Amino acid sequence: PVEERVANLMSQMTLEEKVYQMCQYVGLEHMKAAESKISPEELEKNDALGFYPGMRSDDVARLTEAGKIGSFLHVVTPEEANKLQKLAQKSRLAIPLLIGIDAIHGNGLVNGSTIYPSPITQAATFDDALIKEGSKQTAAEMRANGMHWSFTPNIDVLRDPRWGRTGETYGEDPYLVGNMGIATITGLQGDDFTGAENVIACAKHLIAGSSSINGLNASPTDVSKRTLFEIFLPPYRRAVQEANVYSIMAAHNEVAGMPGHMDKFMMTDLMRDRWGFDGFYVSDWNDVSRIAIWHHVARDFKEAILFSVEAGMDMNMHGPLFDQYVIELVNEGKLPVDRVNEACEKILTAKFKLGLFENPFVDEQKAKAVNFSEAHQRNALEQSRKAITLLKNEKNTLPLSKSGNGKKIFITGPNADNQTTLGDWVSPQPEENVVTMFEGIKHLGEQNAYEVEFFDSGDRSKEITPANIKNAAAKAQDADYIVLVLGENSFRHDWSRKTTGENIDRATLKLSGNQLQLAEAMLELNKPVIVIYVSGSPIAEPQLEEQAAAVINTWEAGAFAGQATAEALFGDLNPGGKLPLTIPRSVGQLQMVYNHKPTAYIHKYNTEKKVPLHPFGFGLSYTSFKLGAPQLSKATFDSATDAVTVSVEVTNTGKLAGEEVVQVYVRDEVSSFTRPIKELKGYKRVSLEAGETKTVEIPLDADAFAFYDRDYNYVIEPGTFSIMTGNSSADKDLQKTSLEATQYLMLEKNP
Ligand code: IFM
Repeated sequence: PVEERVANLMSQMTLEEKVYQMCQYVGLEHMKAAESKISPEELEKNDALGFYPGMRSDDVARLTEAGKIGSFLHVVTPEEANKLQKLAQKSRLAIPLLIGIDAIHGNGLVNGSTIYPSPITQAATFDDALIKEGSKQTAAEMRANGMHWSFTPNIDVLRDPRWGRTGETYGEDPYLVGNMGIATITGLQGDDFTGAENVIACAKHLIAGSSSINGLNASPTDVSKRTLFEIFLPPYRRAVQEANVYSIMAAHNEVAGMPGHMDKFMMTDLMRDRWGFDGFYVSDWNDVSRIAIWHHVARDFKEAILFSVEAGMDMNMHGPLFDQYVIELVNEGKLPVDRVNEACEKILTAKFKLGLFENPFVDEQKAKAVNFSEAHQRNALEQSRKAITLLKNEKNTLPLSKSGNGKKIFITGPNADNQTTLGDWVSPQPEENVVTMFEGIKHLGEQNAYEVEFFDSGDRSKEITPANIKNAAAKAQDADYIVLVLGENSFRHDWSRKTTGENIDRATLKLSGNQLQLAEAMLELNKPVIVIYVSGSPIAEPQLEEQAAAVINTWEAGAFAGQATAEALFGDLNPGGKLPLTIPRSVGQLQMVYNHKPTAYIHKYNTEKKVPLHPFGFGLSYTSFKLGAPQLSKATFDSATDAVTVSVEVTNTGKLAGEEVVQVYVRDEVSSFTRPIKELKGYKRVSLEAGETKTVEIPLDADAFAFYDRDYNYVIEPGTFSIMTGNSSADKDLQKTSLEATQYLMLEKNP
């Protein structure tokens, strides 16, 4: 058994060797690439890139050989992974390395891998099973390339879409975020990550960085304990209890004065002791040192390490001195050796379970066969198709007729013919692996007898010049349809062009650069303008949407974005994606989440509407659906293990086959603390032929009715709950019934 193997190995290890397991470094090639970009003098004093003064890739290679490193990150080829494992095999105990990478939606930092839609896009599918299957495939690609640990899912519940990492989240709803997180974790880890097919997942970032002041990455968060428990923590509790996630990453930010990297309450008291987290914690890049450098809560790095490891931190992401200071702190009697033993034991358990002691190496040739394999491509394409969200379709502009008769489609915009559809955490991919928007539309357009002309508008602010806009307008004069591919850019190809992403936060939700001017010039031509958004971040351009004939949000739909979008344009695909977040009209409406508290919108801004641009859960179809009133399997909820089934009859009343997402929202009508006006507690995506009727059944268990009481016990209070069903979160789309909770139920006592 693994426990015995771990205990046996640990009995042979010195304190130092145990501490080395807690040290992670960035890959040698990554270091070399950075080294080559800065002068030796700069390198000597600069740690702007996260490297330490004087530290070179050669030094890191020597440390590996000496067994002084337990883990690497950002190793991007099987050759490098093997090289590092070979070095580690030379050390006294030959402990294999655990290699981590940000395989956020596919193993995207690796060239030639399958790029699935980004997390926000995946959430728009409302299809957990599909996302789980894709994550399983990502695990296979990772293992084939020598990687064992993915720093995903990001289960930060998005509360401020200015945050540049919005596209990495699953949106604003704790239940949907939880489900998508669980799908991702169980896809990556399998049952308990034993074996050579699985990898470890990492729930991140503990906690609430998605609600930081001003939406700026790493700036302080100041939310109440109640909001933490009701909004931000549920996905973490479920990731631990329902999916056994084996690692958690701490957050850059502080919450109410406590930096995430030394938050003992979060890491140990709550996650480990109350909710049973059994894996290990990893720091974010250099963030242990930032307890001193940024937060000023420790005097120096050594004290920061003391606070962090004491609080529960198990592994330091990147850099020297951590090992030296931990060893000193233990020898000085300041840091209990138990903490080192616990960290080492968890990390070794992972290495044994993953089968690394049996074989730390990979077959370098096999990687090529597994990456971007056909089954993986199929899943990625299916995810893109299911995510496509139709926001407007005036006078049934879409789908375009199948007989183009030579009509001209003019396509332009900064995201029309490049890899921005791939989203963040992706390196440039081989051109033949990616279908850009233009390529997809041209291909299907020509098949349907359209002439498709592309004009390169240039990149947002840099090249959409007045002259370019004029040229675009001249070329579009004789077009029958104008397709504008607008949005933002989180793709890492060229950092200077990124408009969203990690550390690239948005001050407004409007289109960046001169995109709106380009759109206005197109609208002036009085032709049907079809706006396609490519963006991990919501776009708040109400006037543009009013004037456009059709608006499709594709988010960041991955390698096959162009194909899926073209299918939607020409009616081979009927859109069925739903918004995983509210799209505000302006920054004034930033907090207009659908699950707000009862008094949030009693008043409105003097210059803004009372409703957002689009509500959570919204998305149109080319067909129409009629949803019946909700029926309950029973009218009361009586015990902690009780379950109620909500049934809804759905009929496709239109002329085309299509998919609908039936959503169930719950409201606690009277409670001892204020509760949201509605909360998503169940959903099901269903496919219906024209004229077909199906009855959709959605179960609700105790979690649907529970909340935290005054003492932070998890309870159900007796009383009435409204059960609302429909195809978006907007009141006008919902029908209601009610259920009585008959008992006071204590589901989990605060210890
Ligand atoms: O996993 C990421 C994290 O989300 C942000 N900082 C860097 C880490 C490793 O790349």
